Amino acid sequence: MIDSHCHLDPTVFDGDDGVDAVVARAVAAGVSHMFTVGSGYGFESAARALAVARRHPNVRCSVGLHPHDAAEFSPAAFATLLQLASAPEVLALGEMGLDYHYDRSPRDVQRNAFRQQLRAARERRLPVIIHDRESEGETLSILREEGAFTTGVLYHCYTGTVAQMEEIVSEGGYVSIPGIVTFKNSAEMQAVAAAVPVERLLVETDSPFLTPVPHRGKRNEPAYVPFTLKRVAELRGMDAADLECQTDANTRRFFRWE
Ligand code: NI
Repeated sequence: MIDSHCHLDPTVFDGDDGVDAVVARAVAAGVSHMFTVGSGYGFESAARALAVARRHPNVRCSVGLHPHDAAEFSPAAFATLLQLASAPEVLALGEMGLDYHYDRSPRDVQRNAFRQQLRAARERRLPVIIHDRESEGETLSILREEGAFTTGVLYHCYTGTVAQMEEIVSEGGYVSIPGIVTFKNSAEMQAVAAAVPVERLLVETDSPFLTPVPHRGKRNEPAYVPFTLKRVAELRGMDAADLECQTDANTRRFFRWE
């Protein structure tokens, strides 16, 4: 089983209970492969994700600048990011996008960092991982304007409506479902998880947050992605093993992960 989106950042998982222990627990739980996202813990998290992927052959990574950190965008930072992106362990750019819920960086700064990264991804033919929170469709408009769907678009931790999911899928995009789907009060996400075409569906932990039931309240880690997969299979009336084959294949196809 693959966790398609986690943050195996040594600043989160540290000490004796560090990244290596987390990877070992995942493998013991049947999660043989993990995709760690080098974005979201400051600009420096990109280099840290690549270091983890270099150390673990069953971990691959992305590099990017999260909308929360868009204020850190500069020509020098961007050049460093693109240099990291040329490593063979880096299979995508992101997560990137717009977050108008927290607004941690000014919106025009978020849009600029987003567009620059999309252009770089297109040039390098890399797929992109999208973070979209309350942008009211602006994220999707920018993705269309920048031609991002030609190299691959994955909406991670998808929290939108079924109608918007259908638009994303009709453009050729992929949608990833996090542990929120195991919460009782997640009717909209459950409806999405049941409705995504099976060949466009991924599952993720987004560790260290959004821990699925029955571990809700604890720190999240890739070993818990089977709980999310099982819930999605129930919602779709599918056998969990069949769904796992499909989501693993989708993850590998999307990231062109050999
Ligand atoms: Ni994330």
